[in-house]
Amino acid sequence: NHKAFIFDLDGVIVDTAKFHFLAWRKLANDLGFDFTEEQNEQLKGVSRVESLKRILKWGNMELSEDEFQRQMAMKNENYLSYVNEMDDNEILPGVRKVLDYLTEKNIPFALGSASKNARPILKKLNLYDKFDAIVDGTDVSKAKPDPEVFLIAANKLNTPPHQCVVFEDSVAGVQAANIGNMTSVGIGDSDVLNEADHIFTDFTEIKIEFIENLLRKEN
Ligand code: G6P
Ligand code: MG
Repeated sequence: NHKAFIFDLDGVIVDTAKFHFLAWRKLANDLGFDFTEEQNEQLKGVSRVESLKRILKWGNMELSEDEFQRQMAMKNENYLSYVNEMDDNEILPGVRKVLDYLTEKNIPFALGSASKNARPILKKLNLYDKFDAIVDGTDVSKAKPDPEVFLIAANKLNTPPHQCVVFEDSVAGVQAANIGNMTSVGIGDSDVLNEADHIFTDFTEIKIEFIENLLRKEN
């Protein structure tokens, strides 16, 4: 049976995915090209550096190392201007119910995010103290789909990977959970996240019975 839960942040707990998209798109537009929402799926769950590499490839552009760093810093500044306006009203519908249930039942749960902004964002949402462990972009060296971030989280929760459930909105994150031998729950479009063990459009579709079932049995 499953014993612990791991949550991605952007696009799962809070809709910062839309802010990442806006900020990356502005960067591309300023450099003179554009990319689609479909291409944006390939940026979800992917580190800041790797995201910019992919975007530049789409625009057939190369930047000097200095300019690359400058663009990344500008993107983050732009992204944080959206984040700074956020409060706990931005927690996605249905998420709190699940977190409260796990807290009440003393079931451990962690954050597993590629973002270097994860800790300040959780603080803005008043969720920072609710997590038993937080693993984010400042703690890992390998980006999703490498399972490193989730394996560290499982270890911090003292739970073997196969007894962990991962909630993810990105293709890379679902793959990371699967490669890490964890149960993956995709949050979003079932066509995009078809590799997930379970898929829901959003957390309002997740009933407490689903969580209880995971706690009772394997997969
Ligand atoms: C998450 C998001 C990605 C983002 C990455 C790094 O995984 O889904 O879109 O690029 O975090 O975020 P950061 O806040 O460190 O730029
Ligand atoms: Mg995400």
